Amino acid sequence: MGNVTTNEMREKFLKFFKEKGHTIIPSASLIPENDPTVLFTTAGMHPLVPYLLGETHPGGKRLADAQKCIRTGDIDEVGDATHLTFFEMLGNWSLGDYFKKEAIEWSYEFLMSKQWLGLDVNRLAVSVFEGDKDAPLDMEAFDIWKRLGIPEARIAKLPKKNNWWGPAGETGPCGPDTEIFYWTGDPEKVPASFNDDNALWVEIWNNVFMQYFKNKDGSFEPLKQMNVDTGMGLERTTAILNNTQVYSIDVFQPIIALIETLSGKKYGTDTETTRAMRIIADHIRAATFIIGDQRGIAPSNVGQGYVLRRLIRRAVRYGKLIGITDHFAVSVAEEVIKQFGGAYPELKTNSERVKTELATEEKKFSVALDKGLKEFSKLLQVDGKVAFDLYQSYGFPIELTEELSRERGFSIDKKVFEEEFKKHQDLSRTASAGVFKGGLADNSEEVTKYHTATHLLNQALHMVLGNHVAQRGSNITKERMRFDFSHPTKMTPEEIKKTEDIVNDVIKRDLPVHFELLTMEEARAKGAIGVFEDKYEKLGNKVKVYFIGDFSKEMCGGPHVEHTGAIGTFKIQKEEAVSAGVRRIRAVVS
Ligand code: ALA
Repeated sequence: MGNVTTNEMREKFLKFFKEKGHTIIPSASLIPENDPTVLFTTAGMHPLVPYLLGETHPGGKRLADAQKCIRTGDIDEVGDATHLTFFEMLGNWSLGDYFKKEAIEWSYEFLMSKQWLGLDVNRLAVSVFEGDKDAPLDMEAFDIWKRLGIPEARIAKLPKKNNWWGPAGETGPCGPDTEIFYWTGDPEKVPASFNDDNALWVEIWNNVFMQYFKNKDGSFEPLKQMNVDTGMGLERTTAILNNTQVYSIDVFQPIIALIETLSGKKYGTDTETTRAMRIIADHIRAATFIIGDQRGIAPSNVGQGYVLRRLIRRAVRYGKLIGITDHFAVSVAEEVIKQFGGAYPELKTNSERVKTELATEEKKFSVALDKGLKEFSKLLQVDGKVAFDLYQSYGFPIELTEELSRERGFSIDKKVFEEEFKKHQDLSRTASAGVFKGGLADNSEEVTKYHTATHLLNQALHMVLGNHVAQRGSNITKERMRFDFSHPTKMTPEEIKKTEDIVNDVIKRDLPVHFELLTMEEARAKGAIGVFEDKYEKLGNKVKVYFIGDFSKEMCGGPHVEHTGAIGTFKIQKEEAVSAGVRRIRAVVS
């Protein structure tokens, strides 16, 4: 084991699996394409879920890649020696092809062979699933490791909490795994047995045997095919190979060096400076990858855009903290693009967008941050209401206020903040409901656009087909909308075209969207359409009616875009029957 760069490590992994008959596939987008249950791609298997469930992959049954991932669950931990929000995951997959034997033997070969990583076998330990009511002890994996020469004391049998992976969302493919650990302590003093509690044993690779599907009711059923899903954290493994820590690997060095120059401080002199520099490096790297992604997005107050905004604003704050006086996000991003543009060409293609978005966000926030911090320093106590004022007046994400409050020994009631937020939202007619709840994804900008497009379609159908049209249901994901309505016959191509044209015309006119709180009677009198049941949001005994210019009036809980122009272009992809007298339209906006 010698020194190895991050790029070499990535290349070695892919070359190894190519030689074992795998197709190397490019990293999928960080923004999941067909999965509104999560904000970001969190693992290499994520974009491959349909294929793990049996869809045919154009690359065949053996795949390998380096996948861009974001995990924000531990965002507050970033700044210590190990946590990252953005990271690269190396992975190899068998889609119903090879299984435990090959997967484990190849992992072992890649790690141990002098031709590849050449690790010290004496510093290796593994774990396998001990078995429970859902699946048996993984004796097969245990035996394979034993045969390869791993002593039994270094093959731990552990429960589901440790040795089971997935599903990524509430339901989906999952299975028992075998995890590979490397001893990062004194090589002369490797413990005889593996101990999960000893942090010097660091997990470097996970092999998941995806053979179950977890249902909504919590039960597990066997999948059609037995899959292998593996994940190796590139930064972490590179650090271990170089006997160092993640923020000291080659790709981070020039980024940290730049932050040193910008701040005039030295990395490693004191904990606070070190922490701030790591946060800046991590957050701006993540932000660069999010904006520069093939499906890149911009900072906003909803969904992924909100996470992005938090990352940038937190980095800006830590920049100030270590004395950076100029705007710095763009120059850090340029260094990130230099380091990663080779492996991820989209960063180069989208570099202008990255720089523009970062510059705008930093500029917008810097001034407000100074003022807001001044306000904050005068406070003797912070409560949810104050937190909301800081959000509204200075753009302080609630998480930033929480962090500042923790530093000052205040605690804030997030509930009060959320209540204030909601109250304000109803008054100001913004479209950010639920941002602070778990279900972030459901209120992403895309979904909001579809909500409004649904109203336009509903009204257009009334105009083209007649007033007998009644909404029978709708279903929206971030990628498309489905709209069911009553109508006796198949729509003609002319009717479809006319409907589409009306919707696009209203979008082009960029009509303002607003709502009013009306009693049921008032709503009816004004001719509002919509489901006159209990579905809409009730405020007192009033209902919310959304008005889109003079074009549509419809009862609805929202949220909606503020102007129809934000929707883009509307296209009907399909019109079909659902049942007698009920038709379904599938449409997209882009
Ligand atoms: N999906 C597995 C993981 O993320 C390999 O660890």
